[in-house]
Amino acid sequence: MTKIAPSILSADFAKLGQEIEDVEKGGAEYIHVDVMDGHFVPNITIGPLIVEAIKPITDLPLDVHLMIEDPDSYIPSFAEAGASILTVHQEASVHLHRTIQLIKDAGVKAGVAINPATPAEFIKEVLPDIDLVLIMTVNPGFGGQSFISSSVEKMKKVDRWRKELGLNFEIEVDGGVNTSTAKLCTDAGADVLVAGSAVYNKEDRKQAIQEILDTTK
Ligand code: DX5
Ligand code: ZN
Repeated sequence: MTKIAPSILSADFAKLGQEIEDVEKGGAEYIHVDVMDGHFVPNITIGPLIVEAIKPITDLPLDVHLMIEDPDSYIPSFAEAGASILTVHQEASVHLHRTIQLIKDAGVKAGVAINPATPAEFIKEVLPDIDLVLIMTVNPGFGGQSFISSSVEKMKKVDRWRKELGLNFEIEVDGGVNTSTAKLCTDAGADVLVAGSAVYNKEDRKQAIQEILDTTK
């Protein structure tokens, strides 16, 4: 079953609580939280304070995507704030294995993200250690960008490795996912579709989520 993870990056931050409630009622399975530091990516968004503030208002897992340098220094704060899944970028972690252990030691599920230019091979060694692989389908930093279709082959490769190695991590895709691109991803093995603008820029979020899911059937 495909899961939709709406990215609150495209929500109205002046009424964030309502915006989260809206997608929860609309069939979302994760709340995707985009953390950007102005160094790893050219944008600054939210920190542990916001994660802590939204934790009590939703029953959905908080899927926290760390687009930050030096993730090790911030893992404890995001774990304490209530993250359910912490995803770090391979490109931002020199000692990725250690970073993953830090996340697990904090009692949180561990994810690793790769940018469009990063080969899937760069995370192959850690696949047995993680709960989620996040394949970026845009260059991270902003919502509303166009889907980079060369990432589809990468999804297929990671899905193939998952079968060959008998693992059960989830494959999540992020960036430019909408009614035109969702099926390309699910056909290639993606389980979790992050959707920011395709959900939050629509008046009726439940309908937006359903329309994306319908295209994948
Ligand atoms: C991009 C973020 C995404 C973004 C997706 O850097 O990681 O999660 O919010 O937004 P859309 O779905 O609009 O591409
Ligand atoms: Zn994201």
